[in-house]
Amino acid sequence: MKTSLSGQLPHLVEADWLVVPVPEGFPLDGALAQLDEALGGGITRLKSLNDFQGKGGETAVLPAPSGLVARRLLLVGLGSVSKLSVATWNRALQTAARAISSRATDRVALSLSSVPLGNFTLPHLVQLATAAFEVGSRGQDLFKSEPKRRPIPHLEILLSEQNPSAELQSAVTVGQAIAEGVNLARRLVNLPAEAMYPESFAAEARAVAEACGLTYKVLEQPALEQEGMGSLLAVARGSDRPPRLVVLSYEGTTEPGAKVLALVGKGVTFDSGGLSLKPNDSMLTMKCDMAGAATVLAAVQAIARLKLPVRVIGLMGLVENMTGGRAMKLGDVLHSRAGVTIEVQNTDAEGRLVLADVLDYALTLGADYLVDLATLTGACVVALGEEVVGAMSNNQAWCDRVLAAAQAAGEDAWQLPMFAHYDELIKSDIADIRNVGGRWGGAITAAKFLERFVRDKPWVHLDIAGPAFASSDKPHREGGGTGVMVRTLVELARSFQGEV
Ligand code: BES
Ligand code: ZN
Ligand code: ZN
Repeated sequence: MKTSLSGQLPHLVEADWLVVPVPEGFPLDGALAQLDEALGGGITRLKSLNDFQGKGGETAVLPAPSGLVARRLLLVGLGSVSKLSVATWNRALQTAARAISSRATDRVALSLSSVPLGNFTLPHLVQLATAAFEVGSRGQDLFKSEPKRRPIPHLEILLSEQNPSAELQSAVTVGQAIAEGVNLARRLVNLPAEAMYPESFAAEARAVAEACGLTYKVLEQPALEQEGMGSLLAVARGSDRPPRLVVLSYEGTTEPGAKVLALVGKGVTFDSGGLSLKPNDSMLTMKCDMAGAATVLAAVQAIARLKLPVRVIGLMGLVENMTGGRAMKLGDVLHSRAGVTIEVQNTDAEGRLVLADVLDYALTLGADYLVDLATLTGACVVALGEEVVGAMSNNQAWCDRVLAAAQAAGEDAWQLPMFAHYDELIKSDIADIRNVGGRWGGAITAAKFLERFVRDKPWVHLDIAGPAFASSDKPHREGGGTGVMVRTLVELARSFQGEV
């Protein structure tokens, strides 16, 4: 999508669609009054009919409106002005983008000259709008003969300024880079496991590295064995697809003493459950089990494109969890790279086995601050629902930073406790720990397992099992991969000054 900024008046803009966001109970003044007048009172009539009140996500279409140069008008509700947030703006703008991208368009104009700014700056809104239209116009219809959504070739954002500042122009670039990250994560999650397996994921990562000037390193089976990653390798054993560990490094600063932010992703390209096999309904969406790794790749791509002055390493542990003849078995004792021995009591709790070795490797590479992302537990979905990310941490200050980044990005994350007594639940009779924690508190016992591998470094675990994959469409977002937490990680990197 090519996005431009202009000072054109809404009623004079040449476009297939003119999109106008309006707050609830909107007063007909300023630019909106001007538009209403051009329409011969069309918006006034719509308002008096009560057909459109400007409620959050509400839409109204006026086809072939006389008085406008644009061929169609779409009004989209913002809800109450006092409740405007990043999340409500994203919802409204993505709803608009989805509504108009169900058929082919060439030019779309979005009027930001008539909207209340509230606590927002104009560059921030321009960034959100650019991203929302790029994300909202992209479908999950990768293999449909007739696509459900069509990308928007040109977006023109209308502002009151005749000459948009450099700051406004760079807001477009930021929005575009974030959206391309979100869409990359979505595409990788949406691809079926036949297309997205450890080697093909690694090839995608290599392509991103080459395009963005990142250092790319891949550990194949012999290197993983050499590193002693017995935990990750055990998961891979049941599959014909060999595992990979991909490391991308981005050096955005040479500042002496700059700390390294490590982003670690679970990349289980398909989770059959192994021999503790999942039932059909639970397995149905398990191509999404590499969403953590996809989020890491997408975030590192966006951070590099934005040339943020930070040091980031992105680590992606890539395996397929299958039931082949050499698959790990219940009762097996695994030797992790960190030297911690693990009794396998459920082969479906494989994500933590992968992350254990990857987190330990991240420390060897010099990670100072860690965030891992994983579709780790159904228990987290039970606790928080499908739309909220679970956050668990060993360091409150670092966790607060990550949660603040999520809030700034308009993504919902909620912290779960990590009391020491949960550690009792992952004790094993034969080994140091076991890979399940019993019936209760499953999201937390999984995090407690991971905590054993981060050696007191500031670490936040984000369980994205609920929000990473949406089972159905909503007006503001497509079903399938969502790209959740890409925006948050970019926000975190933007705020990351090396120290908490
Ligand atoms: N990949 C799943 C978790 C998951 C569930 C992701 C739903 C997305 C949606 C994970 O590997 C898993 O199977 N976890 C088990 C752990 C249990 C065996 C301790 C679970 O949650 O049931
Ligand atoms: Zn599993
Ligand atoms: Zn899994």
